[in-house]
Amino acid sequence: MSQAKPLRSSSTGALTGTLRVPGDKSISHRSLMFGAIAVGETVIHGLLEGEDVLHTAAAMRLLGATAERDAAGVWRVRGVGLGGLAEPAQVLDMGNSGTAARLLIGLVASHPITCVFTGDASLNKRPMARVTTPLEQMGARFVSRSGGRLPLTVIGSDRTVPVTYRLPVASAQVKSAILLCGLNTAGTTTVIEAEPTRDHTELMLRHFGATVTTERLEDGALAVSVTGQPELTGRTIQVPADPSSAAFPAVAALLRPGSELVLLEVGMNPRRTGLYDTLVEMGADIAFENRRDLAGEPVADLRVKHGPLKGVVVPADRAPSMIDEYPILAAAAACAEGTTVMLGLKELRVKESDRLAMVAEGLTRCGVRVEVGADDSLTVHGTGRPPQGGATVATAMDHRIAMSFLVLGMASAEPVQVDDGAFIDTSFPGFVSLMNGLGAKIADAA
Ligand code: S3P
Repeated sequence: MSQAKPLRSSSTGALTGTLRVPGDKSISHRSLMFGAIAVGETVIHGLLEGEDVLHTAAAMRLLGATAERDAAGVWRVRGVGLGGLAEPAQVLDMGNSGTAARLLIGLVASHPITCVFTGDASLNKRPMARVTTPLEQMGARFVSRSGGRLPLTVIGSDRTVPVTYRLPVASAQVKSAILLCGLNTAGTTTVIEAEPTRDHTELMLRHFGATVTTERLEDGALAVSVTGQPELTGRTIQVPADPSSAAFPAVAALLRPGSELVLLEVGMNPRRTGLYDTLVEMGADIAFENRRDLAGEPVADLRVKHGPLKGVVVPADRAPSMIDEYPILAAAAACAEGTTVMLGLKELRVKESDRLAMVAEGLTRCGVRVEVGADDSLTVHGTGRPPQGGATVATAMDHRIAMSFLVLGMASAEPVQVDDGAFIDTSFPGFVSLMNGLGAKIADAA
C-alpha cells in the first residue's frame, strides 16, 4: 500500500439495493488466531479478506499454523494446539492493524519464544504500553521503542503467572491481550472493566471450549476470567457482516432522498450497536428484521430508509459500543438539523489516526461548524441543509476517515475529495465498487 489513491465523491440520487458488507473485522482476526491454537481444523465462512486480517493470517502461518482459503472462499485453519506456537523466523508485520498487533502480543507472551512485531507508519505510532504493562506483570518481557511503540520484541515465557488486572482504559484489545496470555497460563486470569467493551474474545473462546466467566462486581464493573490451559478444539465459524462497515452504506442511505437499502446479516452484538441506537435517537428510519443467531453472535437484516435526522447528545458511556463509528456519525451529524454533542472521545486520539482531530479538520474544510472540547468532546452544528463540501480532506492512513468523508461527499453541495483511499482495503475491500453499485458516484481523483 505504497501509492496514495485520491478519491472524489459527488452528490448522488437515491441509493437502493440489498447487500451484505464484508465480514466482521474483530471476529475475523479472532477466528484465525483461535483456530491456530486449537487442536484440529477450524473452518471459517465469511472471513473478512481485508489487509488487516490477511496480516493476521500471515502471522499465524509464521507461528506454525496453516491458514488457507479454498476455491469456494472458505478459510481452513489447522491449529498447533494451545502452547504450541513456534518461534517465527521473520518479523511479524501487522500492517495497519492495532487489533492484530495487540492480541497477538498477548497470545505469544505465554509461549517460550521471541517475536519481533512491526507495522506501518500509523501502527508504529500507536501506544502498546497498555498491553505490555499487564503482560510484564504476568512474566513476559519486552523491548520496544520509546513510549512502548512498535517495532517491539516480545520475549515470551512458559512460566507466566495469572493476574487480576483493572483496565485503565476501556479497550477490548487490552482485555483480549491479557485473556489470551492467561489462556496458556496455569490458574485463573481476570480482567476487570468498568465499562463493557466488545466481548467477541469471550464468546469465541467459549465456542472453542475454554471456560470464560463474566461476573458483575459491587461497583458495577465486570470481572472477566479465563481458566488457564484448557483443551481448545477446532470449530466452524460463521462471520457476521461487520456493523462498523455497514455503517457507511447505512448512513449514506439515511442522507440521500429516496434511498432504501437492506443490509444483510449485520452483527448486532449489543456491545457494538451504539451507532445504530444513536441514529434511531436522531430519527433514523432503520428496521432490524430477522433477528437471529449466527454461530453465537446475534445478527439482523437492516432496512434503512432516507429521512431527516436531528442533533442529539451522545453520552460518554456509549463510546465503547461505537468507538469506531464516530467519524461516520459526525458525517451524519453534519447533515442533521441541530447540534450533536459527542462526549468522552479521548480514545479516538489513538486510533489509526487522531480521529478527533482528523474529523474536526475535515468537517471544517467542508464548511461545517465544529468544536473540539478540552474534555475531548466533539460538537457538530448541523443546519439540516447539505454541507458545502468542495474540499480535499486528509486521511492520515485511516480507512474510516476516508470512507466517512466519501459518504459526506455524497450529501454535500460540491464533491469531497480524500487524499488517500488506499487504506480502505484494510477493513472494507470493494467499498468503492459496492457503493457505486448502489448509486454512489465515487471516482479516482488522480
Ligand atoms: C477492537 C477493539 C477496539 C476497536 C478496534 C477493534 C477489537 O479497539 O477500535 O477497531 O477487535 O478488539 P480498542 O480496544 O483499542 O478500543
